Amino acid sequence: MIYLDNSATTQPFEAVIDEMDRCMRETYYNVSAAYAPAMMAEKEITRVRNRFLQTVGLPRGRAVMTGGGSESDNLAIMGLAETLHSPGSFLVSPMEHPAVLETLNRVQRLGHTVRFLPVSADGRVNISEALNLVDRDTVMILCMHVNNETGAVQPLRELFRGAKEINPRIVTFSDGVQGYLRVPMNMQDSGTDLYSVSAHKIHGPKGVGALASRTEIRLSPQVTGGGQEAGLRSGTLNSPGIRGFGKAIEQCENEHAAERLFLLKQHLVEALSGQEGIFFNGPDPLSRVESAPHILSVRFDGVRGEVMRNALEARGILVSTGSACGSHKQKVSAALRAMGLSTEQADGTIRISIGLMNSMEEMEKAAEAMIEQAQLLRQFRRR
Ligand SMILES: Cc1ncc(COP(=O)(O)O)c(C=O)c1O
Repeated sequence: MIYLDNSATTQPFEAVIDEMDRCMRETYYNVSAAYAPAMMAEKEITRVRNRFLQTVGLPRGRAVMTGGGSESDNLAIMGLAETLHSPGSFLVSPMEHPAVLETLNRVQRLGHTVRFLPVSADGRVNISEALNLVDRDTVMILCMHVNNETGAVQPLRELFRGAKEINPRIVTFSDGVQGYLRVPMNMQDSGTDLYSVSAHKIHGPKGVGALASRTEIRLSPQVTGGGQEAGLRSGTLNSPGIRGFGKAIEQCENEHAAERLFLLKQHLVEALSGQEGIFFNGPDPLSRVESAPHILSVRFDGVRGEVMRNALEARGILVSTGSACGSHKQKVSAALRAMGLSTEQADGTIRISIGLMNSMEEMEKAAEAMIEQAQLLRQFRRR
C-alpha cells in the first residue's frame, strides 16, 4: 500500500508509540497531583510545552494543550468572541477548515458579523484587497497557514502585520494544522497572536493538539471544570498524548521534515509535469515560499477525481478527493471554488499528501499509475 493521504492523518513514528507506551506504564500519574512522581511527570509536560513554543517562535508565550486541531480552533475563536462586550467584525479566508467556519457560524449567532477575504486564482489571499476590508470594527482576522486541499501557503506576515497597522487592536489567528513543522512559523515575526496545531498531522497521536498564544490575549475557556491549563482547558491532562506529541516534534526536527518532504514532492511533480491533461491547482508546486512541501492538488482533464481515486486505490495507492472531513459530503470544495475553478475542474481534482514514511520509489510508482490511469479513463470516457 502506498499511503498518500497524510493531510488526513499520518502514521505515528515508532518513537512516539514507544514514548506513549512508557508514559502509560511508568508515569501514568495525574500531573496535577502534589506528590513527587506526579511532579516529575508534570516536568515532562512542561518540557513539551516549551519545545512547542520554541518551534512556533513564541518562547515566552502560552501553550494550551487540547484534544486536537478542531478544539484548538474552537478555543481561539469562540474563546475570543465570548470576551467581547459589543458586536464586532471577523474577517476570514473562505478556504478555512470547517473547524473554523462552523465555529464562526456560532460567533455570528452571538451578534458579530463575519466577512470573507478575497482569494487570488493561485489560492492565496489577495493582500491588497483583503486589507481594504480591515476597519475599526474588525476584532479578529483569521487565515490558515497552509490550505489543506491545495497546499497554498498563505501570506500571513503581510496580512496580519498589515491589518495591525490599520487597527492595532485586531487579534490575528492562524489555523496551523497543515503548516506546523512543514512550513516555518514565527509567531512574533509574522504578527500571529494565536496559532493552532494538531499532533496526528505530524506523525503524533490523534486527539492531541495545542493552541499557542501571546499571553496578553484574553480567552474564555470552552471546557470548564477543575481549572487545568491555567483555567483555559479543564480536564486531567492527556499525559501520554502530550508526551507523544513532544516526541513527534522532536522526530520531525531531527529528520528535517520540511526538506525531506520537499524532495519527495519535487520528484512527484517532475514526473507528472508536462503530461497531457494533467495540471496542478494552486501556486507553483515547487515554490518554497508559496507552496507547502507535502500537499499537491492534481487536476485531470476529462477524468473525475472520484474515479481516479478509486482506480488508484485498486492499484494500492491511497489519495483523497478533498479534505478527509469533507470528503463524505458531495459538495464542491470551498478552496477550489474560491480560486475560481469550474465545477468540472474541481470535480476532476485529487489531493496527494506526502508524509515522512513515503519513499522516492513510491513517488515514481504513484506518478506512473496516475499517468496510465488518466490515459485509460479518458479513452473510456470518449467512447
Ligand atoms: C486545516 C485543518 N484544520 C483543522 C483540522 C482538524 O484537526 P483535528 O483532526 O486534529 O481536529 C484539520 C484536519 O484535517 C485541518 O486540515
